[in-house]
Amino acid sequence: MRFPERLARRFDDEIRFFKGWMDGPKAVGAIMPTSAVTARSMASVINPASELPVLELGPGTGVITRAILARGVAPSDLVSIEYSPDFHARLRLDFPEVRFILGDAFDLDATLGDLNDSLFDSVISGIPLLNFPMSCRVALIEDLLDRLPPGRPVVQFSYGALSPVLARGTSFQVIHHDFVLRNVPPARLWIYRRRPEMA
Ligand SMILES: C[S@@+](CC[C@H](N)C(=O)[O-])C[C@H]1O[C@@H](n2cnc3c(N)ncnc32)[C@H](O)[C@@H]1O
Repeated sequence: MRFPERLARRFDDEIRFFKGWMDGPKAVGAIMPTSAVTARSMASVINPASELPVLELGPGTGVITRAILARGVAPSDLVSIEYSPDFHARLRLDFPEVRFILGDAFDLDATLGDLNDSLFDSVISGIPLLNFPMSCRVALIEDLLDRLPPGRPVVQFSYGALSPVLARGTSFQVIHHDFVLRNVPPARLWIYRRRPEMA
């Protein structure tokens, strides 16, 4: 893509993000869209050869969606859950072949509907976990890991210095995956996997 076109798209993303933020700052949970560097690092955990679909949470303006597709995932193999009707409507226009679901990632049984029994390769999450109680965060990771083959990752974006989900007393372990300075503000990426003895 030519440079001015890329700049124009980024500006458009930022306007859209700001509008989403004005409508619901707590649900958006960030001041700027995720950077392409962060998005690429998140998508790097996907195994495009697994032949399993990928689950994305909180796609927002679609920066991470774009990186997931660039990783080699077919659009029809991407299921993506967005809570904001504005973001959802725009995402469907931008990526017509991706399976976007308008709904709540914390209520996966209802939100996934007929995809509820699907096994996914991995989960790529941009939802603002720090805005939700710890018990909900832990329950979400446990639920997500039940939908992946043993050992496959949930990758989560966060601005804090520590993992947004405590692994103590749970069936999963957490590792620090990346610290991305080229993000506003700088971001940390965390990976959650089921403990081998619990798989
Ligand atoms: C920090 S933004 C990240 C968006 C995206 N990475 C970007 O840069 O454009 C968080 C996104 O999660 C969505 N979100 C918040 N709570 C959610 C929930 N419970 N279920 C699904 N999406 C949610 C918000 O609407 C927003 O699009």
